[in-house]
Amino acid sequence: MYFEIAARNGLQTAIYVRLLGAFARPGLKKSQRIMADIFIVIGTESGNAQMVADCLEDEFAAQGHSVTVNDNAQASDVTNGGRDVVLIVTATTGMGDLPSNIEPFARALEGENADLSSLRYGVVALGDQTYQDTFCGAGKKMDALFEKLGAKRIGERLEIDACTQPLPDEEAVKWAAEWVGLL
Ligand SMILES: Cc1cc2nc3c(=O)[nH]c(=O)nc-3n(C[C@H](O)[C@H](O)[C@H](O)COP(=O)(O)O)c2cc1C
Repeated sequence: MYFEIAARNGLQTAIYVRLLGAFARPGLKKSQRIMADIFIVIGTESGNAQMVADCLEDEFAAQGHSVTVNDNAQASDVTNGGRDVVLIVTATTGMGDLPSNIEPFARALEGENADLSSLRYGVVALGDQTYQDTFCGAGKKMDALFEKLGAKRIGERLEIDACTQPLPDEEAVKWAAEWVGLL
């Protein structure tokens, strides 16, 4: 009896989850979609990632999502609960290194072995392919860190090459059109 009820509840949950997914699809009217709370963490040295993040903020907000952009994120911003989706938008500096404004955030999360299992996340990595082996290294490191700490990535990581893609904000907006439909 108990198992029968549990199984039925499980089925109802599955149906409910599928319905939620349907409502999040981009083809539906704004009023029909489930809106997300998106926390954008920026890693930048000279402003490109900031520009991309600001552009994405406008896009997501126009669709009715709640968006916060932070260029000085603290570990507690994502570990205190209440966050749903984190989008990391980071350039790479040095030889595959994190920009100085996002490095303490990553170090703190790693140091405290934070539990990010309740988070979903995405990564927009800015880089330059002339750096070859360290191309988009910071975005890759943040992706690996969030995965290691239990967060679940939504969609594929976007990698933007400054050499061949001179308009990173346009690349990001194109990518985000699909990404936001997966939320
Ligand atoms: C000193 C320096 C080091 C860089 N190192 C890398 C690197 O290792 N890998 C990479 O893919 N891009 C590298 N880049 C390219 C930047 O990540 C890219 O130009 C990015 O768009 C800069 O974004 P920002 O303005 O937000 O800092 C480097 C750029 C500079 C100036």
